[in-house]
Parts: sequence; structure tokens; C-alpha cells
Amino acid sequence: MTLTVLQPAQVLSPQLEIAGGRRLAGELRVSGAKNSALVLMTASLLTADALRLRNVPPLTDILGMGDILGSLGVGVQRSADSLVLDGSGLNQSSPPYELVNSLRASFFCIGPLLARLGIAQVPLPGGCQIGTRPVVEHVKGLKTLGAQVTIDHGVVSAVVPGRRRRLTGGRIHLDCPSVGATETLMMAAALAEGETVIDNAALEPEVIDLAGLLSAMGARIRGAGTTTITIEGVERLHGADYAVIPDRIEAGTFLLAAAITRSRLRVGPVIPEHLGAVLTKLEDVGCKLTMDGSTLEISADEIRAVDLRTQPFPGFPTDLQAPFMSLLATAQGTSIITENIFENRLQHVAELQRMGAAIRLQGNTAFIEGVPRLSGAPVQGSDLRASAAMVLAGLAADGVTTVQGLEYLDRGYADLEGKLNGVGASIRRLP
Ligand code: EPZ
Repeated sequence: MTLTVLQPAQVLSPQLEIAGGRRLAGELRVSGAKNSALVLMTASLLTADALRLRNVPPLTDILGMGDILGSLGVGVQRSADSLVLDGSGLNQSSPPYELVNSLRASFFCIGPLLARLGIAQVPLPGGCQIGTRPVVEHVKGLKTLGAQVTIDHGVVSAVVPGRRRRLTGGRIHLDCPSVGATETLMMAAALAEGETVIDNAALEPEVIDLAGLLSAMGARIRGAGTTTITIEGVERLHGADYAVIPDRIEAGTFLLAAAITRSRLRVGPVIPEHLGAVLTKLEDVGCKLTMDGSTLEISADEIRAVDLRTQPFPGFPTDLQAPFMSLLATAQGTSIITENIFENRLQHVAELQRMGAAIRLQGNTAFIEGVPRLSGAPVQGSDLRASAAMVLAGLAADGVTTVQGLEYLDRGYADLEGKLNGVGASIRRLP
């Protein structure tokens, strides 16, 4: 009898086992956008009425946000892909540290908590693998709206002075077009006294989605999707029934699964304007794209090198930098990728090199010399999108790839292996 000695890692963490080299065919369904749903959920703090959100993706981050809102007294009910959030029971102004620390988006609660209660104590979101994730712009903006803010022992404590504890509108200029700061401040301003103008606002589709929900709740917002957003504060907001936009990052990941396996796939629903820079780059590398209603059909055979630089929307999204690098690792020619948004979002390079990719790093720039085939190997995902990049590389590699880091992957992709197996991949989730 032979004894198999399991390495500690093999015992401790679940992994995906991917048999590479298979062509894919069929249609991949895109879920609701994680980075919109998380923020829309925090808007439930702004009203005592019920808020129904549809097309909510079944992700661990969504469950986490539900726990955080629940700890503040918000009722959370989930049925299929809908959530009903009831803010009438709001009785806490401070979400617990252990819940906030794991979920950066929960810091955004500080805006609606201040707007509704006039007081909030929210732990600073920890940094993560990809960067320090500061909230300087969020805090600066809240001070402009009249909040008194102190930060000590890792907690941001804010209070609105005055009898009514109501924020006052003001003019905010963001030093950088922070997505989270724009969203946090829009929610705070929605119930403030008077007009707020946010200059240098983020242009991301998720910001526009939040403006859509707040308007459905009775807020008066103009300019979402432009660099200047104007919010006329109102006395109160009412409930709404609102559908979350499709996840442009999941859609881009699926399109890259087709490209890296040289397959023809249908991916939908997709809103093309949400993926402009990505679709352009996919065509630049040689993919054929055609829209059929809200479904995008992609086909790929020869893939050639291309250069890309991540930028705020509408530039190329940082969240698809790692997945796109997996594709370029198998392209003909040498590509250059520059990561301009996060200071530490190139950790997947070392993992791709283990699979035979020829990549040279210089600061925030990667020089990728395409190779004919990657070779399957045990690899580790270091953040949500790096884990997805390793799955894509595994789909194309020769032999078997095992990907660890599923605790990251499951935060942003609902049943990724199930969806990919549905179009011909061969992926097993090992306990
Ligand atoms: C959102 O994060 C997304 N998360 C991220 O997605 C996404 O990568 C990011 O926007 C950029 O598009 C959610 O929406 C929940 P930022 P956010 O504030 O709001 C700097 C994923 O994989 N900055 O726009 O935290 C910051 O350091 C995640 O789904 C400041 O300098 O992003 C970073 O370099 C990862 N000062 C850049 O701006 C500040 O006060 C972008 O940060 C705030 C941010």
C-alpha cells in the first residue's frame, strides 16, 4: 500500500483542478454587477422604507454586506436573485470591525449612516493584496458636508453638529476620481440641506447605477457619468424596486475565456458602452465581436500582441488587467501592460511564469513575450482578479492546473467553474 503524503497546502485550502487545452462552445450568462450591488445595498440605510434589489449576484461579498447591514439593524431577505432590505430597524451607527475589515465596500456605509443618523463610527478598511486602499477623499468630502471627523485606533468617527444633525451641501473637488469616494459622497449628499457639487467625480457605470437607484428613491441628482455631479438634498428618501446592471468585469472575464481557448462563445447580457476599452483591445488582438441583442458573440483564432495601460473609466479597467495578461501570455509577439491604478497589482506575473509565461517586470510595467503554449502547474491567486486570471491560464494550458485562492475567487464570481463547465471546460473543485 503506498501512502500519499499530502502537502499542508493540499490539506488546508480548496482548489480548482483544470484540465487545459479544451475548446469551449455555447453561451455564458453574466450575473449582476458585484461592484454595483454592494453599494446599492448600503443605500438601504438612507430610508425607513423597503428597498428591493433585483439581479443581485450570489457572492460571498454580498452575504458579507448583508451581515454588516444586519448588524446595524437592517432587515435583509434574499429570494432567488432578489434582495429586500428594510432600513426601518436601523439602530446602530457602527458596523463591527471584523466584518468591515474583510470587505472594503462596507466603509461606504459611513456616507448613508451620517445622512440618516448624523453619526457613524466605521473602522478604516484594511489595505489588501493590491494596495493600501486609502479613504482620504471620502473623509475630506464628508468634512466639506459639515461632518466632524476624527480617526484614531483604526476607526473613523464622524458626527454632524447641530440640533438636527443634518449635513449641509457643499462643493467637493476629488483629488483623484475615486469610485468609492464618489459613491459615498453621493449618498451623504442625497439627504443634506442644500446643493452639493462633486467635481472630478468617477465616471464608472456603477456610479451611474447608484445615481439611478437614488433617483428612484426620490433623490435629485444630475450629471452622474460626467466629471461633475450635482445633488439637491431632500428631506427623506422612499423605497424602490431596482435592477442591478450586468457585471462588466465578469463579462470581460468570459470574453477572455473564449479568446484564450480560441473558441466561439456567446456572452450576455452585456452593455457594450460599459466595456468600450476592453472590446477595442479584444478586436486589436484579433477577436471577432458581434452584438446580437444584449448578447455578445466572440470568436478567436490567431491572437497577436497589444499594449495596454489601466486607467479610470472609460480607460482600460484595472480589474481586467490580470485576466488580459493571461491572454497576452499566449499571443504572437511582445505586449506591454502598465498598471496605473493600484500599486501592487502584478503579483499574478510570478504565477504565470510558473506556467511557462515569458514576462519581465519593471516597476508597474510588464513586458510579455507570447509563448505557443502555457503548461499546467499548481498556482495561487493573490486577489479576486488574479485568481480569475489563473483559471483562464489553466483553460489554455497543456495538462492540469490547480488554482488555490478560491476565497478570493468566490468573492467576485458566482460558480465560475459551473458556468465554464457548462460550455465545455473541465474543472473540478477539490475540497
Ligand atoms: C472600486 O474600488 C472597486 N471596488 C474595485 O474593484 C476597482 O478596482 C476600483 O474601484 C477601481 O476601478 C468596488 O467598487 C467595491 P478607488 P475603490 O477608490 O472604490 C486611489 C474588484 O476587483 N485612491 O477608485 O476602492 C486608490 O489608492 C475591486 O472588484 C486614493 O489615492 O477604488 C487606487 O489607487 C478591486 N485616495 C485608486 O485611487 C483615495 O482617497 C482607485 O481607488 C481613494 C482612492
